[in-house]
Amino acid sequence: FLLGIDVGTSGVKTCLFRMDGSLQAAASADYPLLQPKPGWAEQHPEDWWRAVKHTIQDIIRKAGIRPADIAGIGLSGQMHGLVLLDRSGNVLRPAIIWCDQRTQAEVEWMEEKIGRDAIIRMTANPPLPNFTATKLLWVREHEPQVYENIAKVLLPKDYIRYKLTGEWATEVSDASGTLLLDVAHRQWSRDMLRHLDIRPEWLPAVYESHEVSGRVSAGAARETGLAQGTPVAGGGGDQAAGAVGNGIVRMGIVSGAIGTSGVVFACTDKIVTDPKGRLHSFCHAVPGKWHVMGVTQAAGGSLQWFRNQFGDVERSAASFLQKDPYELFSEEAEHAPVGSEGLLFLPYLMGERTPHLDPFAKGAFVGITARHAKNHFIRAVMEGVAYSLLDSIELMKALDMDISHIRASGGGARSRVWRQIMADIFNREVDTVEANEGPAFGAALLAGVGIGVYGSVEEACEAAVRTADRLLPVAAHVPVYQKYYAVYRRLYGDLRESMH
Ligand code: XUL
Repeated sequence: FLLGIDVGTSGVKTCLFRMDGSLQAAASADYPLLQPKPGWAEQHPEDWWRAVKHTIQDIIRKAGIRPADIAGIGLSGQMHGLVLLDRSGNVLRPAIIWCDQRTQAEVEWMEEKIGRDAIIRMTANPPLPNFTATKLLWVREHEPQVYENIAKVLLPKDYIRYKLTGEWATEVSDASGTLLLDVAHRQWSRDMLRHLDIRPEWLPAVYESHEVSGRVSAGAARETGLAQGTPVAGGGGDQAAGAVGNGIVRMGIVSGAIGTSGVVFACTDKIVTDPKGRLHSFCHAVPGKWHVMGVTQAAGGSLQWFRNQFGDVERSAASFLQKDPYELFSEEAEHAPVGSEGLLFLPYLMGERTPHLDPFAKGAFVGITARHAKNHFIRAVMEGVAYSLLDSIELMKALDMDISHIRASGGGARSRVWRQIMADIFNREVDTVEANEGPAFGAALLAGVGIGVYGSVEEACEAAVRTADRLLPVAAHVPVYQKYYAVYRRLYGDLRESMH
């Protein structure tokens, strides 16, 4: 068996797979997101570790296997988060995570001191508040007493690796999102570290994503129930690992993932960059490959917000019917007309990355009339998220990338209605894969490559990833959405002043 652990934003998901890619058992555990000030987003790394331990114990119990039957472990996780440890490996402050928006001043400082073009030359990406380096500079400026005790800087899943193996290590795909990696050469950028005056010894060793980075220690074996010595592979940032789990390891197929964030992801054979930096250019979890991706900050996060604020009825009906409230949301959305009778939603609840690169962007419902009922609002949220993903697809098209069809994944893709909305809005075929375990699955496959079960990541995908459920655009819906997308595209520009 292979174990994949995905340290997500709302919780951890751990899955056990057979070598043919089929799922043997899954377990999840949630943790809180702390928002101590508007625009801030933090989590306790200890909460991740507690949840990871709980899911591993749960899986071993449920699957009725011997711990030694787990041949390898792969890690995946939310990207960009800043975890700071002191010399004894203690966490120095809560992690500042990917959707935290407090570091615009640090972005501006970097642009002024180093220059945006120079940063793109060194790291393949422009500075953005999401990237880890800006968070580290914020701590230097605002919490010098924390900064002076730093011994290690880790990404979220790499903190779990440290707890499992005692090793300080990361891998190329997640390291790409720090703004400290020389993405072209797949190693830390000495130049960037020098410009920022960050000590190289704070950073962990960088592996290729399939490589074994350490083994489960005696202490971790006691705490989790795993067998001591089980190999732990590099794994991947959730987007790259998810792409592996969805078979996005060659040029041509592009994925549209709706998790808390939404991501359009394409594999490339060389670094491709959007001249305005609106798409990220990162290492893929496949040796010798890179990827471009466009990110919608609040995709599933928008529908989750709507559910939390306005979904009491669905929540109690769902618990009575023993269904997921999102299933009821999908049923309601299906009863609203295509285009939600002119109700449009901008999903900028946590600022926006692609295409606006604006941490201060705000969400909006536009075009409300007395005819609109709750089901229109639910559908408008789903449509707004799909328009936002289409913005990323359009940028990739402008770079001459071939985007013939889209593979949908993530929690949002469980909804057939949402997938049909994607097909209609993208005007492209949308399929999905049988096991919708994306990042945890991809991480497990990477471990399988690391321990030699599969010859390469491409081979692992051929052996284990099965596509399912092709949806074609409905011809009558396409022009309706084209009309509304044109309006959607204008709205950010029209409203921008009121957002800042
Ligand atoms: C990718 C990104 C998010 C996080 C959270 O750049 O910020 O997708 O990885 O899942």
